[in-house]
Amino acid sequence: MKAKTLLGPALGLLLLAGTFTACGRDRAPSKAGAAKWTIGVSQCNLGEPWRVQMNQDIRNAAREHPEIEVVYKDAQNDSLRQTSQIEEYISAGVDLIIVSPKEAAPLTAPVAAACRKGIPVIVLDRRVLGDEYTCFIGADNVRIGKAAGEWIVKRLGGRGRIVELEGLMTSTPGQDRHTGFREGIKDGGLEIVFEADMKWLEPDARREMESALARFPKIDLVYAHNDPGAHGAYLAAQAAGREKDILFVGIDGLPHEGQVYVKQGILAASFEYPTGGREAVETALRILKGETVDKEITLDSRVFTPDNVAAGGEVLKGN
Ligand code: FRU
Repeated sequence: MKAKTLLGPALGLLLLAGTFTACGRDRAPSKAGAAKWTIGVSQCNLGEPWRVQMNQDIRNAAREHPEIEVVYKDAQNDSLRQTSQIEEYISAGVDLIIVSPKEAAPLTAPVAAACRKGIPVIVLDRRVLGDEYTCFIGADNVRIGKAAGEWIVKRLGGRGRIVELEGLMTSTPGQDRHTGFREGIKDGGLEIVFEADMKWLEPDARREMESALARFPKIDLVYAHNDPGAHGAYLAAQAAGREKDILFVGIDGLPHEGQVYVKQGILAASFEYPTGGREAVETALRILKGETVDKEITLDSRVFTPDNVAAGGEVLKGN
């Protein structure tokens, strides 16, 4: 599948066939003349509705382009497994890789290795370290965290006891949603009474919230880095008979998850985190056709509250 570098006469051909970039296409399209490119997707897990939706968004967009074939691998929330998947895609000689990494550090080297082999890599939603990839696509998590913080300060009138349930802090959205949130609340008088890493997982969030409830007789609001986390916290509060005394705020805003929780009165707000699946396919096609794409593609976000959810939410200010 790959045009291999042969020094001498082949070098001229290679120069004609492709462009050289730090991390992008440096070879002719494989299956020359044929209508098909192969894209390998490595999804960090499929245990959460948001990731199932991302793959679905990729599938829906890809269906409109018969010139690409997309293959999928599920890393089952294991960075080592995901590393092997990237290596397998490199050996198979796919034309482009889309990866949504579990954690930044462990996935950095395999992504860089693919780039060095001339396989373009689109990093989706969670980042790797450094800049050895072709393009990053995702919403701005610092901004979402900050908007959530500002919204919460306003909603509580500047006073309240907060529980922060963090996404995996070795993944960049967890770090950014935390940093942004702390920035957003810095001028309010809120007190963070409990903070724990629930690793994006609803059962972990529920367990952490049980500890928070046991320790603190008064909690005003839970800020969870994703909607499953906020829902887990709600279930813990409900089991303790305290769900009506506490507000719950999450992130993701899926139509069939966060938005439903808002409509049901379980969440006071959910901030949208778009999957970027469609944008990844469209960007992949541009790269495969030899176009130059931006290194960073930032997606917009909205907030859903009981007041605006029926009307489709409200775009975050500054978008
Ligand atoms: C799913 C998920 C989402 C979250 C995203 C962050 O694995 O936890 O809920 O918004 O990952 O990368």
